[in-house]
Amino acid sequence: MCAVTTPSSKGAETTSKAFRGRQPQSSNLVIFGASGDLTKRLVVPALYHLAQAGKLPNQFAIIGIDINQQTSEQWRQNLTNMMQTLTPVGRIDAPAWSWLTDRMHYMPADFTQSETFRHLEGMLAGQREQNNTVNVLFYLAVGEHFFGPIIEQLGQAGLTQQSGGAWRRVVIEKPFGHDLSSANALNAQILKVLSEDQIYRIDHFLGKETVQNILVLRFANGIFEPLWNRDHIDHVQITAAETIGVENRGRFYERTGALRDMVPNHLFQLLAMIGMEPPISFDANAVRAKKTELLQAIHPISRENAVRGQYGSGTVLGQKVQGYRHEPKVASDSGTETYVALKLGIDNWRWAGVPIYLRTGKRLSARTTEIAIQFRQAPYALFRDTPVERLPANILTLRIQPDEGLSVSFSAKRPGTGIEIDGVAMDFAYRDYFEPVGTVGYETLIYDCLIGDATLFQRAETVEAAWRAVHDLIHFWARKPPDDFPNYAAGSAGPYTADQLLARDGRTWMAIRADPHTRRSALEVLPPG
Ligand code: BG6
Repeated sequence: MCAVTTPSSKGAETTSKAFRGRQPQSSNLVIFGASGDLTKRLVVPALYHLAQAGKLPNQFAIIGIDINQQTSEQWRQNLTNMMQTLTPVGRIDAPAWSWLTDRMHYMPADFTQSETFRHLEGMLAGQREQNNTVNVLFYLAVGEHFFGPIIEQLGQAGLTQQSGGAWRRVVIEKPFGHDLSSANALNAQILKVLSEDQIYRIDHFLGKETVQNILVLRFANGIFEPLWNRDHIDHVQITAAETIGVENRGRFYERTGALRDMVPNHLFQLLAMIGMEPPISFDANAVRAKKTELLQAIHPISRENAVRGQYGSGTVLGQKVQGYRHEPKVASDSGTETYVALKLGIDNWRWAGVPIYLRTGKRLSARTTEIAIQFRQAPYALFRDTPVERLPANILTLRIQPDEGLSVSFSAKRPGTGIEIDGVAMDFAYRDYFEPVGTVGYETLIYDCLIGDATLFQRAETVEAAWRAVHDLIHFWARKPPDDFPNYAAGSAGPYTADQLLARDGRTWMAIRADPHTRRSALEVLPPG
């Protein structure tokens, strides 16, 4: 799947996946939820970037479906307005944008009615006659309660049948289920209609270049993998800190909370990339099997190894903000967690005894997603007769966003006559080597669906393994409402109890640092949703 990167005088030449050369076959993209936020802020901007890069097939049609009445022209205009707010004035690439909008058709319809699917069948038949386009990617950019019913209706209308070399694929957004039993039920429902290889369960974290880079870092370099195990690693910390609150998503968040919203999906994807065994190839099934095995090896998380928190009022990035319980559509006595910290154990030969600490929260002091791998201390004995008080540990930090890059910290002798040791770091920043690229993080994901590469998507058993790992904790927390909420101030690093979780093991969290260079990511030109 990977082409080789060669250093050049200008820095590194662009690494490209071999499949980037593959042009998708002619196809239709049917978007359910065409007027929704996800379509406007992520799916359509990603399509625009793909159009700019010439990565969409010439015979390509987009059919948008949603409940609100509007014409195709009005839909295109709304999307154009949206793009203008996302892109600096005058910077829209007009030929690429009109290439895309020329292919957009809107159909006002109710997803729950069978006539919607008959009508859709008629539109797809029209495309077949006009352009000989038979392949269809159905994108479910809708609330989770629509996933099962839409797929059943697609099946009943015969729209998921693949024949004569034509493919039919379905993209399902997160959240995939609300817990283990609902994920099982949803998998059972959709697998009655679709085969596993037709289903593309998205986790948008896998659209991030820095997340995809974890496999390259580990398996395309000779120096890391020999150290990547319990003999050399002391512990791992995975942090996804956000400064935003729940914004206008109070109703969704009240029934979801930070654990469900971030852990079995995004954080476990990072964990799987860090912890998986080497696959025998970059083939989708080989990679996904190894990731699933890792998630299956997570030791059930006990309540003693879990901390929850909820933000009160405070100051974030210089702005006073209200507490979670005062956010719109949130109960004034809400017990929903907006922060979670966990200590995990992985029951396999590579990771046994290496604690993995995860934390995520809203309204923290800075926005940063990073993975810190702390290596075991060097033996101190050599330095016992010197003034060195302690040896700093080596830490490999993978900065996922927004300051994409990685650093390795190590010890160096301070110049001078005696032996004094300082902690120093080597740093790689994407911005120093690669041109900034226009991305919202969905380009690769959509492109991969169109070419049928499922490497970055979840299989049924991967999703179920993730829910299984948090199952007991979800149920314990539901039975035992917290009595100390709110327990962290907006703008802080999270609750004190999260510090205790590590302190009891003689460890501390890495600082949640703001991007020292810039607030803007090198890999996001358009803001994500
Ligand atoms: C979403 C969650 O899946 O991921 C949000 O529902 C969260 O609550 C978001 O803010 C984080 O994604 P990113 O890409 O902005 O880090």
